[in-house]
Amino acid sequence: MQITIRKWKQTDAADLAAALSNQNILNNLRDGLPYPYTEKDAEKYISFTLNSDPNDTFAFAIDVDGKAVGSIGAFRQGNIHCRTAELGYYLAEEYWGKGIMTSAVKQLCEKLFAETDLIRIFAEPFSYNAGSRRVLEKAGFQLEGIMKNNAFKNGKVLDMALYAYTRDTL
Ligand SMILES: CC(C)(COP(=O)(O)OP(=O)(O)OC[C@H]1O[C@@H](n2cnc3c(N)ncnc32)[C@H](O)[C@@H]1OP(=O)(O)O)[C@@H](O)C(=O)NCCC(=O)NCCS
Repeated sequence: MQITIRKWKQTDAADLAAALSNQNILNNLRDGLPYPYTEKDAEKYISFTLNSDPNDTFAFAIDVDGKAVGSIGAFRQGNIHCRTAELGYYLAEEYWGKGIMTSAVKQLCEKLFAETDLIRIFAEPFSYNAGSRRVLEKAGFQLEGIMKNNAFKNGKVLDMALYAYTRDTL
């Protein structure tokens, strides 16, 4: 299995829509994505990634043997946080549990620290999201704390876990 991260292509829209139009994925993300998530929605997102500032938005398709099976992105923050980026990701459900996201997160972090001035990459999974937390830990992220009552999602108050991967700035 060849796992790479690469730029999105408009021809990935059908694969992206098929992957993301899934409540088991959407339940673990922030609100705001439509359900069902259509090919048109996917086309809009792909256009956004291709037209955004490449120094601020680092958004990639996760490619397994030539097919887009997931999404990973790091988004530069503003103001005094301008050298930090928030990481987000998801994988089509049929590909879960094969080590794909661990590989994708490692690849993106390596690329960001090699090619940008970023000094901190952080992620905020819901505390209960054991799979995502394990991915971050395996990719070298440190748990910095639990943010109590940090989200209201699907009618429930949820804690979130703050993880960061930092570059040595000395
Ligand atoms: C979370 C997610 C990205 C994991 O991706 P994945 O490719 O299946 O993860 P990996 O196969 O690389 O697994 C990494 C580790 O996590 C563990 N893991 C994966 N899913 C798990 C789960 N649901 N519960 C407990 N452990 C889990 C694996 O066993 C592995 O650990 P190990 O090597 O010690 O056995 C994927 O399940 C997903 O897309 N979920 C929905 C969206 C989401 O939660 N996005 C993150 C929002 S913060």
